[in-house]
Amino acid sequence: MHLDDIDKVYALEVELFPNPWPRSFFEHDLVAKKTIAFIIECEEKKMIGYSLASCHDGKFHITNIAVTKECQRKGFGTELVHRLERIALDRGCTYAYLEVRTDNIAAIKMYEGLGYAIARRHKLYYINGDDAYVMEKELR
Ligand SMILES: CC(C)(COP(=O)(O)OP(=O)(O)OC[C@H]1O[C@@H](n2cnc3c(N)ncnc32)[C@H](O)[C@@H]1OP(=O)(O)O)[C@@H](O)C(=O)NCCC(=O)NCCS
Repeated sequence: MHLDDIDKVYALEVELFPNPWPRSFFEHDLVAKKTIAFIIECEEKKMIGYSLASCHDGKFHITNIAVTKECQRKGFGTELVHRLERIALDRGCTYAYLEVRTDNIAAIKMYEGLGYAIARRHKLYYINGDDAYVMEKELR
């Protein structure tokens, strides 16, 4: 992901999330050294998904992931996480974690399929008062 991808990334963020990240979060993360960020494009160069994570002190944190509605359930979310994890391992991270809305069944199922397990519930994690599950995995 590059700074000039942010228009399309932010448009998808607003479409898919009840409390979207402000645009400035993407701009800030993209210039931070610890960030790993991908977009996936189809052959016509249309963006179909994106993901962001950070690697810090041996910990890999998936902070955002989305796939366009028409391209969901085709393995792109899984592929994005695999790519992030490979880079995290190269950077020496052995512990992975993320937060997910407790009612986000699609994401929870995807992460479970990738070997993540629910570790705890984080009350009032989201700005609208929703709770999150913290999911985690040992990277190998
Ligand atoms: C979560 C998200 C990124 C998953 O992306 P995706 O490309 O559809 O995921 P995949 O195709 O790799 O799915 C992998 C597995 O996850 C599970 N899964 C995905 N979507 C699901 C759904 N709607 N219902 C139940 N399980 C689902 C399935 O087990 C699936 O494997 P299968 O299709 O072989 O049964 C996508 O649904 C999305 O963008 N959602 C909106 C944004 C969001 O909630 N992001 C996560 C924030 S934590």
